Amino acid sequence: MILVTGGAGFIGSNFVIDWLTQTDEPVVNLDKLTYAGNLQNLASLQDDPRHVFVHGDIGDQTLIASLLQQHRPRVIFNFAAESHVDRSISGPDAFVETNIVGTFKLLEAARAYWQALPAADQAAFRFLHVSTDEVYGTLGPQDAPFTETTAYTPNSPYAASKAASDHLVRAYHHTYGLPVLTSNCSNNYGPYQFPEKLIPLMIINALNGKPLPVYGDGMQIRDWLYVKDHCNAIRQVLAHGRSGETYNIGGWNEKANIDIVRLICQLLDEQRPRLDGKSYAEQIMHVADRPGHDRRYAIDAGKIERELGWKPQETFETGIRKTVLWYLENPAWVTHVQSGAYRDWLDTHYGNL
Ligand code: NAD
Ligand code: DAU
Repeated sequence: MILVTGGAGFIGSNFVIDWLTQTDEPVVNLDKLTYAGNLQNLASLQDDPRHVFVHGDIGDQTLIASLLQQHRPRVIFNFAAESHVDRSISGPDAFVETNIVGTFKLLEAARAYWQALPAADQAAFRFLHVSTDEVYGTLGPQDAPFTETTAYTPNSPYAASKAASDHLVRAYHHTYGLPVLTSNCSNNYGPYQFPEKLIPLMIINALNGKPLPVYGDGMQIRDWLYVKDHCNAIRQVLAHGRSGETYNIGGWNEKANIDIVRLICQLLDEQRPRLDGKSYAEQIMHVADRPGHDRRYAIDAGKIERELGWKPQETFETGIRKTVLWYLENPAWVTHVQSGAYRDWLDTHYGNL
């Protein structure tokens, strides 16, 4: 049995689906169902007895303690977080609450559970914390990519809250010996991503005839990784990672935002041409930049490659094509997300959880 937190979000739901495709080990999936949690992502598991969904908060230490006692997981995967940088700028409170205080409470419950385990189970237990490359701050054009020893320099409230959670996880290993693993990944994209993030926002706005808002000059660089590759990397970190270590995960794939937006337009021109025959690129609009916007992220994924033998399977070209097609082929998911109807899914399909 494994416990996944935040498993109704973008990466968490992909992870749970992949996990249950690869193994029969059951999953307890704890999610608060914030605006970013969407049980429709997990619709394929609705009648699967290996998936137990629990509606709750990682900050609820009593709930976590009882879940741990009841299900006795061998791993906790912590995906739960407030994850959107722009929201962290307009309202940082929830980021401090979930990413810092929530992770702290989860660690406390995990520590108490782990300390009471028999020795063999203690040795096998892992707390795997899913983090981000944003903790390392921003790079200049000629700087070397982030390694696991790059100093933390978080620039947004989101990045600072994730950095704080990483430090807590590290401290619980150093002080109490809790067997932890931390992964710091670059930008993910793929199915089920909430359309507040660059790639799904651009696809959906384009199809709706809306402007495609590019912040500033659009020359900010991110490293992009297809979400299934991230899920696979996390499984490798669990299987072969050394307790107490951190692993950077990335796609060796730096791209400027404007190039991504243009590529999306090109794919949509090919797959779903505009009725007026013009390109979706006509909808691109440069807007005010994000305050404190990090200019460049780049990940050196050499450690996970050397030590755990992990490499991404998708290139950006194959991954972005799959992603665009997924959004085109899942209009019901898109419509429910846009209308907010996905939030009724809990009542309709899970009763009074
Ligand atoms: P997301 O916003 O899509 O999903 C987050 C999930 O966590 C949602 O289902 C939400 O309901 C749940 N949640 C939020 N607060 C909670 C709480 N207090 N208790 C329980 N559940 C709660 O995020 P995502 O993009 O899937 O990211 C998942 C994790 O991966 C995050 O920790 C994020 O920092 C990290 N990460 C994301 C990316 C990326 O590109 N998206 C890259 C690297 C790392
Ligand atoms: O690097 C990993 C991080 O990637 C994760 O930790 C975060 O959870 C995730 O949200 C993501 O952060 P970013 O800020 O990089 O992602 P976002 O999709 O919000 O933006 C990607 C880039 O595109 C960024 O430079 C801002 C820009 N952008 C974004 C939006 C939403 C635009 O130009 N226009 C937009 O409308």
